[in-house]
Amino acid sequence: MKTDKLKILNNRNLLTQKLRDFLCRYNATLLGIQESKRDNFERLPAPGNGLLHCFTVSVLFHNIGIFGKEGDYLDEIYPRLAALHMQLTNYLKKRDIEINGPNTQIAITIIPYADPYGTLNKSMPLYIRESRGQKVITSETLSKKSPYYANLIQKYSACSGVVTNNGTVVGPDGGLIGAACKVASTYPNKIRVLELGSGGGSTALALAIQNKIQSYLGNDFSPEMITHFQTEVAPQLTKYSVKSSVTFGSCFEFPLKNQVDLISIGVYFQTQPSLFEKRGHELVKCLDKSGVLIVQSGMLEDPFVTTLLSGSMTNNSIWPWYKKSYHLNNYFTYVSEYAIEQETVLITTNNLDKFQQITKLFIENNGFKKLSIANKY
Ligand SMILES: C[S@@+](CC[C@H](N)C(=O)[O-])C[C@H]1O[C@@H](n2cnc3c(N)ncnc32)[C@H](O)[C@@H]1O
Repeated sequence: MKTDKLKILNNRNLLTQKLRDFLCRYNATLLGIQESKRDNFERLPAPGNGLLHCFTVSVLFHNIGIFGKEGDYLDEIYPRLAALHMQLTNYLKKRDIEINGPNTQIAITIIPYADPYGTLNKSMPLYIRESRGQKVITSETLSKKSPYYANLIQKYSACSGVVTNNGTVVGPDGGLIGAACKVASTYPNKIRVLELGSGGGSTALALAIQNKIQSYLGNDFSPEMITHFQTEVAPQLTKYSVKSSVTFGSCFEFPLKNQVDLISIGVYFQTQPSLFEKRGHELVKCLDKSGVLIVQSGMLEDPFVTTLLSGSMTNNSIWPWYKKSYHLNNYFTYVSEYAIEQETVLITTNNLDKFQQITKLFIENNGFKKLSIANKY
């Protein structure tokens, strides 16, 4: 039997044909496929040569109600997009093509476009799969099993792996660690940090090792991550004289009352549109005048949530569920998008001087590539 890799990578027409057949069932048209490769940092060890071959599939949906008609992005819209991805995975699996799983080197992401002449028909059923950080992996094991993480650890020293209850490696977030350390270096003093989705605590530790953090407030809805932080991370931070505390619970309920210099958003991508819609103004309020918010908003091959936050895809406004309140520009004057450690990170602030300092520093740093959205000045 041919492997999935041979089947698709040796025959792109086969993939196109299978996608067209699949999309037909959903009254949708394949617009185009973009290919890219990156390190497969969601698996430990990653299968094959360690790289993930990504297909970003742009699709025009003629039923603009397919992902729901109204309601909260996290509860009502994302679960329908997840259902479509799950259906695609199953459809291809039945045809001996394995995608998006632990043993495959192929990822397919559908980027949905709404047909401006489309009609509002029935929505897909919701697909809900609970996920939270569950297990922590030491930096030694990470280094041994993954060249990507070995490189990250060499640069930032302190990184712990975070594996979910579904077996996906979701931390450390290289993009956030890279962005946080660079942003911190633009402040003369040690900074106060708040992080939603603190996971293995790698952002705090990387900043502590660089001697750039004064205090850290974390939050995670995983009891395992909170225990790990309290038993392993907090004592290390104390050695660097960093005051820290973590709060168990949802990022939607975390009390936002302290003034900080940096907010780092590490919660899942699908949570972010709802988080900014509900708490965007509160997040701004707890930032100091020269404060910065960083958010890791997607994988390089999957820009969908990033486009919702940045407002960079005007076609999104055709969806009946779409809300302008997802846009970071409602809360921040300056928003820019970077590829950092092969992840997409949005950097936002209301302070022009800070924005200019960061832009200069990031552009001088060859590893940080500026992505599509234009700066607002
Ligand atoms: C991508 S990992 C972040 C990893 C972290 N930045 C690190 O370097 O270890 C996401 C973390 O956010 C937590 N999380 C996801 N959604 C959340 C929510 N709505 N509220 C609080 N925590 C959440 C998960 O349990 C997980 O530990």
